[in-house]
Amino acid sequence: MPSTTVLVLNGPNLNLLGTREPSIYGSGTLADVERLCHDTAGPLGLTVDFRQSNSEGALIDAVHEARADMGAIVINPAGYSHTSIALMDALAACDLPVVEVHLSNIHQREEFRHLSYVSKVAGAVIAGCGPQGYALALQRVAALLGTPTA
Ligand code: DQA
Repeated sequence: MPSTTVLVLNGPNLNLLGTREPSIYGSGTLADVERLCHDTAGPLGLTVDFRQSNSEGALIDAVHEARADMGAIVINPAGYSHTSIALMDALAACDLPVVEVHLSNIHQREEFRHLSYVSKVAGAVIAGCGPQGYALALQRVAALLGTPTA
């Protein structure tokens, strides 16, 4: 039976949600997103370990650690989506279901955001749903893990 704990990992600048370009990312804070994740996870039979880092290495370390005791990873890699082969490699190596989330629809934005290295190894990608994307990602994880309440 896989673990029902999900690592919800947030990349650089997402700590600034609420004040950061609200016309693109909305006025909700990362704490609001975290609350939404916990509220969504409970009824789905999941537990969330919610983290954010501005550092590529710390994100990679968190993915490595997840191999030991997490059932899945939901990740908004933020700017590292478009640059980090190392984060992509870590996710590919972790052997866990991975769902990638973007608050904005990266495909409607600048050309350089259209490529996500993480999408090459994620089982599913959700973009443009705002914070609800995290809830949708957790629903997908529950279905993949077959939690009793999924
Ligand atoms: C983002 C989209 C990325 O292009 C950007 O660098 C971010 C946030 C999103 O959630 O829409 O930091 O991942």
